Amino acid sequence: MVGHAHKLMLICAAVLATAAAGQAPAAPQGAVARKIPGITVKDAYPNGCVDCHVNGKAGDTRLSTLMTAWTTAVPAALVEKARASSAAPSKIKGKHPAVPKVASNIPQMCLNACHKKGSTIAPPFAQLLHTIHLTGGSANRFLTDGQGECTHCHKLDAKTGAWKMPSGAEK
Ligand code: HEC
Ligand code: HEC
Repeated sequence: MVGHAHKLMLICAAVLATAAAGQAPAAPQGAVARKIPGITVKDAYPNGCVDCHVNGKAGDTRLSTLMTAWTTAVPAALVEKARASSAAPSKIKGKHPAVPKVASNIPQMCLNACHKKGSTIAPPFAQLLHTIHLTGGSANRFLTDGQGECTHCHKLDAKTGAWKMPSGAEK
């Protein structure tokens, strides 16, 4: 009996609160879909890498520009990630070879040439790019500004359910 009375009181309190607010009862918590780029909200980077790595507010972060700098020296933190994600860490020497035409199709040309799954000549992109973009917590701009969204790189075909990796020319 006590339990029943208690439940009733809670229901009354909820009804009163709703009446006081003068509105229809709010949707239950969790009824609104999470904002997921390309899935529930607009995709700001439909072409993936090349839509985000641009010459803009954050400076020139185009991959061709980064790569040109890496022909002299790759920053130590990046070398460490490259080694950790590589099947043959001793082959990672801290310099990136010059790749003149790669800017026309990123990341497909990188994947085709050297960074494919199972590669032993360079770190596979799957592992390397995940360590670069998804580790380091709040010190990583992809996790703060980019909220670590998988769909900035991976695109869902809502019809077929297949995942795609967009690729294209740099801006
Ligand atoms: C939505 C934006 C966004 C997309 C899409 C994106 N990146 Fe990044 N990327 C970043 C940010 C932000 C950083 C810097 C992370 C940090 O603060 O450590 C970064 C860092 C990097 C770095 C390391 C640069 C350095 O100097 O250390 C590489 C390499 C890289 N990205 C390659 C790629 C590739 C290849 C793709 C596509 C498969 C891609 N990124 C897609 C935002 C993005
Ligand atoms: C910066 C771009 C980027 C982001 C962000 C990203 N991925 Fe990836 N992911 C890639 C690339 C590039 C590949 C490799 C594609 C290939 O090899 O053809 C990949 C491959 C994968 C694979 C296949 C791995 C394998 O070994 O075959 C899985 C699973 C995956 N990603 C899951 C995720 C999940 C989950 C997230 C979010 C938490 C995420 N990715 C975020 C770029 C990204």
